[in-house]
Amino acid sequence: MRHGQDGRAVETAIRVNLAGRATIWSWGPLRCGQNRGKLAVKHVAVVGASGAVGLRIIRLLEERRFPLASIKFLASARSAGKTVRFRGEDYLIEELSPGAFVGVDIVLSSTPASVSRQWSPIAAAAGAVVVDNSSAFRMEPLVPLVVPEVNPHDITKHQGIIANPNCSTIQMVVALKPLHDAVRVRRVVVSTYQSVSGAGQKGIHELEAQTEAHVKKGQPPAPSKFAHPIIGNCIPQIDDFVEDGYTKEEMKMVNETRKIMGDPTIEVSPTCVRVPVPVSHSESILVETERPITAQEARAIWAIAPGVTVVDNPLAKAYPLAAAAADKDDVFVGRIRQDLHRPNTLLFWCVSDNLRKGAATNAVQIAEKLLELVPATVSGPPL
Ligand SMILES: NC(=O)c1ccc[n+]([C@@H]2O[C@H](COP(=O)([O-])OP(=O)(O)OC[C@H]3O[C@@H](n4cnc5c(N)ncnc54)[C@H](OP(=O)(O)O)[C@@H]3O)[C@@H](O)[C@H]2O)c1
Repeated sequence: MRHGQDGRAVETAIRVNLAGRATIWSWGPLRCGQNRGKLAVKHVAVVGASGAVGLRIIRLLEERRFPLASIKFLASARSAGKTVRFRGEDYLIEELSPGAFVGVDIVLSSTPASVSRQWSPIAAAAGAVVVDNSSAFRMEPLVPLVVPEVNPHDITKHQGIIANPNCSTIQMVVALKPLHDAVRVRRVVVSTYQSVSGAGQKGIHELEAQTEAHVKKGQPPAPSKFAHPIIGNCIPQIDDFVEDGYTKEEMKMVNETRKIMGDPTIEVSPTCVRVPVPVSHSESILVETERPITAQEARAIWAIAPGVTVVDNPLAKAYPLAAAAADKDDVFVGRIRQDLHRPNTLLFWCVSDNLRKGAATNAVQIAEKLLELVPATVSGPPL
């Protein structure tokens, strides 16, 4: 429910939800200036609005002046009744329920995968297009997995759900795509240095609590989100281990890269590591290409690539840094150098804000592209 700053009542509508019960909704009136150019305004729901990604999505919808007819904020019963601030007004967070999606055009969802698996098909069946940040549907053949700088037109194939890739994958493919177009990427060896916010609010709190105990020379709380204490550590495990000694996070980088780039022959060899950094993932990337490429050529390619910023003047100590990338939307590349032994191999350092381009920015960009490419946002049958 929206609370106007002046306390005035907002429009309400009573609609019947999918289970046949009456649900009271509050719709904010359409305000002037919200419609960007030819884009149609939309009824939007932010699911997971209290989470690390959800809170960034809310900021981005404000910053990018997303064309809204109405907006609502959903999460679990734990957050229902709390408020979020949007465009100068306080909105109540509502508990996720089947009726919550009636009349909604676009759902921006950032919940655990198990929650999305249950609720995203319900939202799609109610007629919304869901942009889902979780891993629930990423590898489903009929669900587009989209990074707007790489494969925007896959959006048009959606059948009600569009998946947002894993954060480590997004920043890597934004950097790889222009190289792939120029000299064809054949193999990638990547080591990640992933921030604690990649594990959501609980990851952020775990680093903060351990840091506070460390400063006060007290007993740090036992790790719960991470397998080991994260303060003073680099943990070479993100998510559970699967077959052959790889983790789920590493296999996401392998499989999602191929799907987004539309090339199942690209070889990806990842090692994913959690580091005690609040925000932004860093990646050391070695890329083998079909044709040789020099560092200078790569710099020139990236200089005009969408979503990429080159920071590469090592003698002036200028290279991408996690702290500098936080709160930015671009993917930053630097330390660009040709392999000492192989002319068709390039090494570089790649950094991006995992909560923004790695999640929220990419999701909002998908929603913007959706309005551009499929203005009616017609949804098909549920999965
Ligand atoms: N963090 C990243 O860098 C990143 C990047 C890319 C993708 N992702 C993916 O995005 C999703 C969200 O990540 P996050 O980092 O924002 O996690 P988070 O900080 O833990 O937030 C999770 C959100 O989901 C809500 N939620 C949890 N259980 C729910 C339920 N049963 N019903 C309704 N809402 C529920 C939470 O609401 P309550 O507060 O009410 O519990 C909260 O709003 C995950 O699938 C994650 O893998 C994260």
